[in-house]
Amino acid sequence: MFLKSCCVYSTGVLSIVLLIVAIALVVLQVFPNALHSRIKEEIVLRNGTDAFEAWKNPPPPVYMQFYFFNVTNPAEVLIGEQPAVLELGPYTYREYRPMEQVSFHDNDTKVSAVNPRTYVFEPHMSKGTEDDLIRTVNIPVVTVMERFKEHSTLSAIISALMKSENEGLFTTRTVRELLWGYDDALLSALHKFAPEVDSSFGLFYKMNATDDGEYLFFTGTENYKDFSKVAEWRGSSSLEWWSTDNCNMINGTNAASFHPIIEKHELLYIFSSDLCRSLYALFEKEVNVLGVPAYRFVPPREVFANATENPANEGFCVPAGNCLGSGLLNVSLCKQGAPIILSPPHFYQADEKFANDIFGMNPEKEHHETAIDINPLTGILLRAAKRIQVNVFVEKIPVFSQTGDVRTLVFPVMYLNESVVIDEESAKKVRDVVTKANVIINIPFLLMGAAIIIGLVFIALMCRQKIPESTSAEQQPLLKSS
Ligand SMILES: *[C@@H]1O[C@H](CO)[C@@H](O)[C@H](O)[C@H]1NC(C)=O
Ligand SMILES: *[C@@H]1O[C@H](CO)[C@@H](O)[C@H](O)[C@H]1NC(C)=O
Ligand SMILES: *[C@@H]1O[C@H](CO)[C@@H](O)[C@H](O)[C@H]1NC(C)=O
Ligand SMILES: *[C@@H]1O[C@H](CO)[C@@H](O)[C@H](O)[C@H]1NC(C)=O
Ligand SMILES: *[C@@H]1O[C@H](CO)[C@@H](O)[C@H](O)[C@H]1NC(C)=O
Ligand SMILES: *[C@@H]1O[C@H](CO)[C@@H](O)[C@H](O)[C@H]1NC(C)=O
Ligand SMILES: *[C@@H]1O[C@H](CO)[C@@H](O)[C@H](O)[C@H]1NC(C)=O
Ligand SMILES: *[C@@H]1O[C@H](CO)[C@@H](O)[C@H](O)[C@H]1NC(C)=O
Repeated sequence: MFLKSCCVYSTGVLSIVLLIVAIALVVLQVFPNALHSRIKEEIVLRNGTDAFEAWKNPPPPVYMQFYFFNVTNPAEVLIGEQPAVLELGPYTYREYRPMEQVSFHDNDTKVSAVNPRTYVFEPHMSKGTEDDLIRTVNIPVVTVMERFKEHSTLSAIISALMKSENEGLFTTRTVRELLWGYDDALLSALHKFAPEVDSSFGLFYKMNATDDGEYLFFTGTENYKDFSKVAEWRGSSSLEWWSTDNCNMINGTNAASFHPIIEKHELLYIFSSDLCRSLYALFEKEVNVLGVPAYRFVPPREVFANATENPANEGFCVPAGNCLGSGLLNVSLCKQGAPIILSPPHFYQADEKFANDIFGMNPEKEHHETAIDINPLTGILLRAAKRIQVNVFVEKIPVFSQTGDVRTLVFPVMYLNESVVIDEESAKKVRDVVTKANVIINIPFLLMGAAIIIGLVFIALMCRQKIPESTSAEQQPLLKSS
C-alpha cells in the first residue's frame, strides 16, 4: 500500500517538476539563445568557416540581365512629340565576383579584399544576341552638348564637328557596344584637343574583369551584426563617403553572401558602388525560397522620394536645392558629368509624370522592385534582385540644332536586374538547420506535453485509489499477493 501511493505521488511530483522545467526553459529562452549564440559563432569571417568560404566565393550563380529601350519614333521626338520605346532583352551575363587579395587586420576584426567582377554572356538565358542593334539616346553627344551649352564659340565648333561626323541626338549601336564600349567619333575628335577625354564610351566600359578598389569589411568577431559590413572603401570610412559625395553607399552589407541574423523591425543596408547612394530596405512579408522560410525586404518608397516628401533626402538634390521629381537620382557627379539619372525600372514608384512622358513604360511591382529575401534564423541571403534603370536627361539646347524641338525629358536607356538565388545544395543545408532548430526550440513544449500526460495519469491513479472505498477491500488481497 505504501509503495503504491509512493509511486502515485512520485508521478505527480515528476509531472510538476517537468512542468516547471519546461516553463523555465520557455521563459528563459534557453534553447533559442543557445541556438543563436551557436549561429553567431558560425557567421564570422574566419579562415576556414563556411561563412568565409561563401563570402570569398559565393556558390550560387549571380546573373546580370540588361533590358534596352529601342526608340521607335526618333524623327517625331525631334519635333517635340512623345517618345515611344520598345523594351528588348534580357541580355543575360553570368557574373563572377570572387574576393581576391584577402588579408586579415586588427586582430581579425577586419578583412580587406578586392572584388573584381567578370561578365560572361549567357546566350541560353538571353532573348537576342550581343549583336542586336538598339536605337537610343546618344549619351556622349548629350554629355558634350550639356557641358558646352553655355560656350557660344565652342558650341558652334562642336556643333559643326557633330554635323561632319553625322552625329545626332540618337544613335544605333549593338548591345555589345553600348555596354562594353565603342569608339565615339565626337569623343575621338575632342580627345585630340583634350587628351583627358576618353575617346570610348560604354555603360559598363572597362568594368569587365576589373575591381572597383579595395574594400575593408568587418569580420563580425566584435559584433555579429557587423558581419561582412563594409567598413571602408578605397581608404575612407563609410561615413566619410556620405559627407564628401553621394557617389557611394553607406552602412553596406555584401550581397550574395551571409547576413546578420535578421529581425522584422531591422533596416537592411545594401552596398553598391554603382548605385550612387545609400539604400535601405524594410521588411515587407514572409516568403519561401526553395522550401526555406524567408523575410522579404524591399526599399520603401521614401528611399527614392524627393526632398519635399522626405526631407532626409535633401542631400541628394544636386546641386543643392535642385531637386528632381520623386523616384529619380541625379548621379551626374559620379559619371564624369554625363547627365545620367537613375530610377527604378519603368519609373516604378516614381512620380507618375515620368512614366507618362514616355510611351512604352509599364511599371509593375513584381518585375521592377528591388527585393532581398533573407532567412531570419541564420541571416543567410536566399534570393535578391537589384533593379535599376539608367536614364539620360534630355532638353532642347538652342545652340545645338541637333536637339531640334525635343521636350525636356528623363529618357530611359536601359535597366538591369542583378539577381541571385541560393543553390539547391546550400538551400538544403539551411533547410536542415531550420528543421533542427524547430526541433530544439520545441523541446520545452514536448516536455510540457509529457508533464501534462503524466499529470493526467497521476489524477487517474488518485481517483482510482480514493473513490471506490467499498470495492477496495475486495481488491486488497489480490494486490497483496502480487
Ligand atoms: C587560410 O588558410 C589557408 C590554409 O591554412 C592558407 O593557405 C591561406 O593563406 C589562409 N588565408 C588567409 C586569407 O589567411
Ligand atoms: C589583440 O588582442 C590582444 C589579446 O586579446 C590584445 O592584447 C591586443 O591589444 C589586441 N590588439 C589590437 C591591435 O587590438
Ligand atoms: C570579360 O572578360 C572575360 C575574361 O577576361 C571574358 O571571358 C569575357 O568574355 C568578357 N566579357 C565581356 C562581356 O567582354
Ligand atoms: C531597334 O530599332 C532599330 C531601328 O528601328 C532596328 O534597326 C533594330 O533592329 C531594333 N532592334 C531590335 C533588336 O529589334
Ligand atoms: C550606420 O551604422 C552605424 C552603426 O552601425 C549607425 O550609428 C549609423 O546611424 C548608420 N548610418 C545610417 C545613415 O543609418
Ligand atoms: C545633375 O547634377 C549635375 C551636377 O551637380 C547638375 O549640373 C545638373 O544640372 C543636374 N541635372 C538635373 C537634371 O538636375
Ligand atoms: C517632389 O515630388 C512631388 C510629387 O512627386 C512634387 O509635387 C514636388 O514638386 C516635388 N518637389 C520638388 C522640390 O521637386
Ligand atoms: C530580372 O527581372 C526581370 C524584369 O523584371 C525579370 O523578367 C527576370 O525574370 C528577372 N530575372 C531573374 C533571374 O529573376
